[in-house]
Amino acid sequence: MSRQWYNEMCVYQVWPRSFKDGDGDGIGDLKGILEKLDYIKSLGVDAIWFSPLYASPQKDYGYDIADYYNINPEYGTNEDFKAVLDGAHARGMRVIMDLVINHTSDQHEWFKRSAAGDPQYKDYYIWRPGKGKDGKKFPNNWMATFPGDGWKWNEERGEYYLHLFAVEQPDLNHDNPAVREEVKRIMRYWLDMGVDGFREDVITYISKKEGLPNGFPLPAARGMEHYSPGPNLKKYLQEYRDVVKEYEGRLQLGEAPMMTPKNALKYIDGEDRVLDMMFGFRHMEADCFMISWIRLPFSLRKLKKIYNNWQTKLYGRGINANYIENHDQPRNISRYGSEKYRFESGKALCTMYTFLSGAQFVYQGQEIGMTNLDYEKWDDFVDVSTFSTKKLLEKLKIFSQKKIMKMAKYAARDNARTPVQWNATANAGFTTGTPWYTVNPNYVDVNVEAQENDPNSQLNFYRKAIALRKEYADAAIYGQFNLHLKGHRQLFVYDKIGENGTKLTVIINLSEKTLSSKKAKKYIYPHSKEILSNYEGEIGDKLRPYEARVYKNALLGE
Ligand code: GLC
Repeated sequence: MSRQWYNEMCVYQVWPRSFKDGDGDGIGDLKGILEKLDYIKSLGVDAIWFSPLYASPQKDYGYDIADYYNINPEYGTNEDFKAVLDGAHARGMRVIMDLVINHTSDQHEWFKRSAAGDPQYKDYYIWRPGKGKDGKKFPNNWMATFPGDGWKWNEERGEYYLHLFAVEQPDLNHDNPAVREEVKRIMRYWLDMGVDGFREDVITYISKKEGLPNGFPLPAARGMEHYSPGPNLKKYLQEYRDVVKEYEGRLQLGEAPMMTPKNALKYIDGEDRVLDMMFGFRHMEADCFMISWIRLPFSLRKLKKIYNNWQTKLYGRGINANYIENHDQPRNISRYGSEKYRFESGKALCTMYTFLSGAQFVYQGQEIGMTNLDYEKWDDFVDVSTFSTKKLLEKLKIFSQKKIMKMAKYAARDNARTPVQWNATANAGFTTGTPWYTVNPNYVDVNVEAQENDPNSQLNFYRKAIALRKEYADAAIYGQFNLHLKGHRQLFVYDKIGENGTKLTVIINLSEKTLSSKKAKKYIYPHSKEILSNYEGEIGDKLRPYEARVYKNALLGE
């Protein structure tokens, strides 16, 4: 596989509402982002991905778009965006926009006109008459991904519309060529402005099986087999790809729930690929069953198996999109790591995924070890999917209220959305006003400023790891993944072997236990050099909690 800048890139994800407030209204904005471009650059990243910045009623915090051509006034103006874009480019960073085209907001002009039966827009969405004698039964049994019914009755139109997410997020009808033309126009608008590509939201859902047949009787996401992926996905993606190809060096990253490596390769392999890479979900399921709410004990064996599968199947063919956090996932230290060993485990997790083949993604606050919030009551949550999941669980009548709250605390997406902790002053320096959302009280100990000047901080560990990944790109980014000790429950040991003979060995104790280092040490060759470690000194007879080490083995020359 040829070497490409987008394979080597490290991307920093900004969820704008909680990143940095620049005007004191308590809401993160473009002015705040502009102030922090130097900080982002200092991490050693090559690009920024912005979660949606567009005008939106914010029912799903920007993933419900009401106007694709304008920036949300709470975040600033299109000129403010241009300043951020230019500022990023001036610092040598690319900019990736979120493109949410499976659905719009119900406040989008298209939807309003569609509901009103305007001939030009009437087929922009997926409308169906009700079934049954009274015509009020759902058109089929599909459910939304945010638990609940997949259909909503619209009084004005006298029909149901499909929504695979919140009620306020009607699905667009991509089978309608006019809709696809609209999408292309939107893409060109931002590409013309100079953005470097798109992260395409739930892109594998945009084509639905003809006739919308009933789905498998699952208790959630029912109907998924008919749209994830759907029959015309590749055809539609090809059209969108052609638009991006009109421009030089632009990028397409697709979000792909339920994806397997085998299926992913149908879209991301070879010159005629329709996406450059895909965000899979499986590696985020090592402590749960399908969704983070259905919690299971963290299984390192499961995680290793999933990584092994993706790393080996995509080797030499497709590019992995490596992430351990984003705006939809609770904080990783609170899941796969340990809040007790916050920074040790934070650095161990950083080590674990930095040296995997593929592009790297870092979510805001991950680099300083932000953790989940200690929720006490339902009023503390704000995410639409938290409440729909709660409702579904209550309806099932299996779990007590206390248990449901406990599940939410651990699993809610809200956890990733608390303001970034910049310093130890009021509101963690996120805003001079009243923050729109709770600041995690641990900001006093966990913040950027405190970590800036501490050479052993997690922040500086991230900087070092990001740089090492580049320095040893041959092995770290392009190398062959070789997993050792597959069945071990606490040790994660793997090699990355580059074509130039460089071999990196990653050794991690991913547990709170102190373990013998004997088994792991077998993989460190004589004369090899340690290049990264989260504990001082040489490796001893024991591996301490979350101890992580990376060696460059001098086996094949150099
Ligand atoms: C994606 C986004 C998520 C959003 C959903 C609906 O999964 O990452 O935040 O709620 O799509 O747009």
